[in-house]
Amino acid sequence: MNHKILNKNCQDEVTRLFTSAFTSFEGKKEGELVGDLASKLSSRVDNHEIICFGTYEEESIVGAIFFTRLQFREAIQVYMLAPVAVCTEYQGKGVGQELINYALNELKNRSVAVVITYGDPSFYSKVGFRALPENIIQAPLKLSMPEGWQGQSLTGESIPTINDRPTCVKEFNDPAYW
Ligand SMILES: CC(C)(COP(=O)(O)OP(=O)(O)OC[C@H]1O[C@@H](n2cnc3c(N)ncnc32)[C@H](O)[C@@H]1OP(=O)(O)O)[C@@H](O)C(=O)NCCC(=O)NCCS
Repeated sequence: MNHKILNKNCQDEVTRLFTSAFTSFEGKKEGELVGDLASKLSSRVDNHEIICFGTYEEESIVGAIFFTRLQFREAIQVYMLAPVAVCTEYQGKGVGQELINYALNELKNRSVAVVITYGDPSFYSKVGFRALPENIIQAPLKLSMPEGWQGQSLTGESIPTINDRPTCVKEFNDPAYW
């Protein structure tokens, strides 16, 4: 199994992976919603504002993850991890955690200060995320599930308080995802 940074050529395989993993997990509607999001994000991957990492077993993609930049007035590098998917046959074997740890290490090497995610704490706590109160870092849009807002510092220091509300990439600028 190997992990790598993906480019726009991977759009179709990444879209299929997200559509199928989220359809199995939460049904057809969610599969289409997240598949469409993954397709749009893949089409604009630039390894800066939008970064995609994938895990391959031989030539087949078995996992993928996106990081998108959260932009604040101050010059601090903060990324949001979302969405992540592992194909159903490979779930529960450690692939998701390995891919996330690989990606976090890559971002740490790029001097990223903080990574944030929005999802189930029972999974993300396994890869270092902790609840992130919005008086420390706000979400770009109103959260329907504030307990899912989580963060981790990559600097060794605690997460700094940032006073302004960030903007996210346009693909996430839709209340349906929040
Ligand atoms: C979530 C997902 C990316 C995890 O990847 P994975 O390779 O299956 O996970 P790992 O094998 O590395 O880790 C497994 C652990 O995570 C937990 N876990 C897996 N999927 C989970 C989920 N959707 N919600 C909460 N916990 C989950 C398992 O309980 C397991 O814990 P254990 O080791 O204590 O039993 C993958 O299962 C997936 O694509 N699921 C469908 C889409 C999805 O739910 N995406 C993320 C939404 S938060």
